[in-house]
Amino acid sequence: METFASHAEIRLVVDGVAHAVRVDNRTTLLDALREHLGVTAPKKGCDHGQCGSCTVLMDGRRAITCLMFAVARNGAQVVTAAGLGEGAELHAMQQAFLDQDGFQCGYCTPGQVCSAVGMLDEAEAGRPSYVTEDLGSEPELTDAEIRERMSGNLCRCAA
Ligand code: FES
Ligand code: FES
Repeated sequence: METFASHAEIRLVVDGVAHAVRVDNRTTLLDALREHLGVTAPKKGCDHGQCGSCTVLMDGRRAITCLMFAVARNGAQVVTAAGLGEGAELHAMQQAFLDQDGFQCGYCTPGQVCSAVGMLDEAEAGRPSYVTEDLGSEPELTDAEIRERMSGNLCRCAA
């Protein structure tokens, strides 16, 4: 009977730092980041793809890391909320969350910030959302559009 390897070595670039790590094939990208690499900016909320607290930017798109196997993302470029800024300088989205008092406990915030950055990029690239009425025009970030595009990120504190 053919046997399959249960572990694999994968390479990830996380916030500009290259890593090689050996993981069980069943390890999610979230657990690879948090438990194997000590990258704790993405948070584990539901572990079921429902809350968005584990969101990062992966190869330029927002990604729910608890829903993907790390081995399937071998070679990915990952940017977490901790890697968005330039050194000590905050990313404009991080600053906006501070300025607008956009959090309470902060548990969901790294995912919210990454998702918000991804949302702006998606709108800029002309990608429609579920509530975009005219698929032929550039999406405008109305309140309804922003609500829909951020609806995958839940805040337990209701901040
Ligand atoms: Fe990934 Fe909730 S922890 S969506
Ligand atoms: Fe507490 Fe969102 S600020 S969960």
